[in-house]
Amino acid sequence: MVNYRELAKTIGALTEGETDEVALMATVVCELHHSDSRFDWTGFYRVTEPELLKIGPYQGGHGCLVIPFGKGVCGVAAESGETQLVADVDAFPGHIACASSTRSEIVLPVRNSTGDIIAVLDIDSDQPDAFTQADAEALSEILSQVFAR
Ligand code: SME
Repeated sequence: MVNYRELAKTIGALTEGETDEVALMATVVCELHHSDSRFDWTGFYRVTEPELLKIGPYQGGHGCLVIPFGKGVCGVAAESGETQLVADVDAFPGHIACASSTRSEIVLPVRNSTGDIIAVLDIDSDQPDAFTQADAEALSEILSQVFAR
């Protein structure tokens, strides 16, 4: 089980002084993915134009390249600006299955220092109901630490 306090310290040290979003995303994904056996796919989808997400740095099997706002768990998170905590992906209307093994998912909006949504962080698990509100709060804190500073 991930130790979010230690993970935040590690990510903070690795990303200190860096402002390039892709470099920051690649580092966050690498550290996150290997921190917890629940995380079977970890990646960012970036806002590349209004109402459109495109895949960014990720770890795990291939992910779909493009997701319109409002589509899938990622598109709903981007459109609503709200974290999506999905205990059962089969029960989520319009879930986009990049892997048939995925059972649960958490997707968080990523905001920059001016509050604009620049991406979403998507973590998939092959375990049902794998994510908790505590995960959502800790992950949101790490995203703010890195992208909204
Ligand atoms: N499940 C996501 C799509 C991304 S793949 O899982 C990597 C969704 O429904 O938006």
